[in-house]
Amino acid sequence: MKRRRFLALAAVAAGVSAAAPYLSARAQPAARKLRAAAATQALVGTGHPATAVWAYDGTVPGPELRFRQGERLRIWIENALDVATTVHWHGIRLPNAMDGVPHLTQPPIAANGGHFLYEFDLPDAGTYWYHPHLGSPEQVGRGLYGALIVEEREPPPVDRDVVWVLSDWRLDQEAKIVEDFRGAMDSSHAGRIGNSVTVNGSIPESFAVRAGERIRLRLINASNARIYSLSFEGHEPWLIAFDGQPLEPQRLANSRIVLAPAQRADLLLECIASPGSRHRVVDDFYPRRTYRLMDLAYSQEESIRKNFPAVLRLPANTVRVPEVAGAERYRIVFGGGMMGDMPGSVRGGMMGGMMGGGEHGRLFWTVNGIAVPEHDHRHEPLLTLVRDRSYVFELVNDTAWHHPIHLHGHVFQVLSRDGKPNLRGESGDTVLLNPRTRAEIAFVADNPGNWMLHCHILEHQASGMMAVVRVA
Ligand code: C2O
Ligand code: CU
Repeated sequence: MKRRRFLALAAVAAGVSAAAPYLSARAQPAARKLRAAAATQALVGTGHPATAVWAYDGTVPGPELRFRQGERLRIWIENALDVATTVHWHGIRLPNAMDGVPHLTQPPIAANGGHFLYEFDLPDAGTYWYHPHLGSPEQVGRGLYGALIVEEREPPPVDRDVVWVLSDWRLDQEAKIVEDFRGAMDSSHAGRIGNSVTVNGSIPESFAVRAGERIRLRLINASNARIYSLSFEGHEPWLIAFDGQPLEPQRLANSRIVLAPAQRADLLLECIASPGSRHRVVDDFYPRRTYRLMDLAYSQEESIRKNFPAVLRLPANTVRVPEVAGAERYRIVFGGGMMGDMPGSVRGGMMGGMMGGGEHGRLFWTVNGIAVPEHDHRHEPLLTLVRDRSYVFELVNDTAWHHPIHLHGHVFQVLSRDGKPNLRGESGDTVLLNPRTRAEIAFVADNPGNWMLHCHILEHQASGMMAVVRVA
């Protein structure tokens, strides 16, 4: 008995020494399980029926995942939906195989019980999010997304760290989701903009604050298509990070933060108003459709401080700085949509638009003249970049519509808009192109693999506005 036990231990010991380089690496954290499934949630609130949604772990948004910079994320996805899915970790610089793009980086996670282990290190602190990358207009539109927060090694002192996941729903009178995903009208215009905006999964009335508090407010736009322009009446928040990347702390231009789908902003909200007061948070992005998102509601308690300490810049992430002068340049033109030119040439799918086409064959948008249907998994690269070189992309919006353009696997600097230097100086992973404008972005192509470049208005992405950039 003793001898057998000894032999067993010896075998284990031998195994250890053979695999020493691997095992000596830091211990593996246990994988956290995340289950995608149908659920119900009271989005609208009292007096209204709950809404049937799709959710991670039964809630919209899904669980707030929090890690420390440098930690390893290990998440075991279980797919209990009756459609295949994947999970994309938006904005994270990760190995290509973990990027969650169906067919391009992994097979889809099968419906009714498929699973997949995502596992990678988190090099950058900041505010990120996760969402499916398959059938996105419907899967995100039904509620599949959540916040992914990577805390600085030494987080700056604040009184509270709060996440607001903003989502937009198209609900009917019974608070049911209207199931008109991928409608031709929405797809060829501004995308599927809804009629009900939720913050962290319910329509908010107010957000309770206390006078003198300093809140790190992390905003995440998880909406399919809605763009926000938020102002905080009576307050002057600081912008301290955009798309997870720190920038020079600054007051908001026009006292507003514009947030397109997929974009994030970290604000420092200093509660400078008096106890017992109320102040509106207003969204006025779309002309004639201004509404009050909620109130900041001050408690009666006295202020917890007289003066706010100086706002310090967050420590920079380890993103490499591109050499802009010597960079290779590409011009990438986004075209199509109504009131613009229809796609000139279309690859791999039926021409949509005015000519119809099947529900999934509708193509309205192009990248450099090519419309890629969502079910086209060949994804021939639009560009092949040389690893570790600097690139400048001139992104040209040749349409009458807004397009938030997202590049996977990298963080870019926004150099200019319409030829004018970008004074805000942000870096990020998603840049909003206003109608008929252009922007220049610069980055070091230091992450090998096939990376999506697409519009994050999900109905635009699904009807042609996506491409693959290869880093080899
Ligand atoms: Cu947030 Cu390609 O995705
Ligand atoms: Cu778009």
